[in-house]
Amino acid sequence: MKTQVAIVGAGPAGLLLGHLLRAEGIDVVIVERASADYVLGRIRAGVLERTTIDLMDRLGLGARMHAEGLLHDGFHLADGERLIRIDIAALTGRQVMVYGQTEVTRDLMAAAPERGLTVIYEAADVALHDVASDRPYLTFEKDGALHRIDADFLCGCDGFHGPSRRAIPASASASFEKIYPFGWLGILADVAPCHHELIYANHDRGFALASMRSESRSRYYVQVSLEEKVEDWPDERLWDELAVRLGPEAAAHMTRGPALEKSIVPLRSFVSEPMRHGRLLLAGDSAHIVPPTGAKGLNLAASDVHYLAEALSAYFLRHDAGKVAAYSDLALARVWKAERFSWQLTRLMHRFPDGDAFDRRMQLAELDYIASSRAAQASIAENYVGLPL
Ligand code: APR
Repeated sequence: MKTQVAIVGAGPAGLLLGHLLRAEGIDVVIVERASADYVLGRIRAGVLERTTIDLMDRLGLGARMHAEGLLHDGFHLADGERLIRIDIAALTGRQVMVYGQTEVTRDLMAAAPERGLTVIYEAADVALHDVASDRPYLTFEKDGALHRIDADFLCGCDGFHGPSRRAIPASASASFEKIYPFGWLGILADVAPCHHELIYANHDRGFALASMRSESRSRYYVQVSLEEKVEDWPDERLWDELAVRLGPEAAAHMTRGPALEKSIVPLRSFVSEPMRHGRLLLAGDSAHIVPPTGAKGLNLAASDVHYLAEALSAYFLRHDAGKVAAYSDLALARVWKAERFSWQLTRLMHRFPDGDAFDRRMQLAELDYIASSRAAQASIAENYVGLPL
């Protein structure tokens, strides 16, 4: 098989990129290891920046998002006692949308056939070949047969564990990583949220987050040590802990319910540079990971593919290779700023096992400063809604 762009991975990055390229009439094939049901079964993030909302709208795929998503004008930081509201709408003129990544993926997936976007699911042993040459290709196994796709470009949208980043020789890349000494224990439950906006809390006992997927489905998290297991946290213990860490105002409105899902995720900051090697271009989690504290993971994947689609469109429609050459630098400039914000918010809101009393006072002083300073709130707000493209 021959195509113009072969994409590895049909998560949000791969599907968004595929649609943006198809909208320009560019031929695309996506190869995905998992089944469509498996991809839709993953529970992931749920806050969309304006840039991500705009991309869905540009594709004409934003109807359900606008109908079912919740526009938020602000969110809260909490220090265990009070709520500090960050009024993002007043401070930036923009809002964010609560709409699950799974729903974004579902909308993109549903529209693929009618837009001529081919997605090959359940492709095993996907391998990338000759990425530094002008004739790169993919191979994979499906239904017992070996397949080959020749393409002008390969795009790696296969997440942190996929093969694309590893196809760049170690001598041509550098990676930067910070692994945090704790994880997030998350619970999803069909109960009304305790507040109509998100609450990020830094309590003496550790971080907690009150989030939501809809007006009747809540998502909560507590910081736990990496040694802890989901079995250590029966539902009641988790709800009790949330009530303490989120503070009295949130606790008073918290409805408890059985967990639909409960899991622990580690927190990591990671960037691999560059995001292009010859004819291989990386986007999304394959090139970088942020801790979930700033809700930036999905949105960074969206901004990467925005730049990448522009670069490949310039190449195919205007025979201009300059934007492909510039892609990595352009994307990384935004990636590093989102890494900075996610790292800073993670440091501000968590208890670090090696932190001392001074560190704790610094966190409290910073929260107090934020509570009293419009400038500090504006800085947080402009990063939270997403820096301009
Ligand atoms: N072959 C083919 N596909 C693969 C392979 C492989 N060897 N390895 C992984 N994949 C697929 C995964 O099954 C998944 O569907 O690549 C896709 C990667 O999707 P995500 O992990 O969702 O990554 P990305 O699309 O970059 O999404 C950005 O935003 O909320 C954050 O971290 C969260 O995943 C999210 C990210």
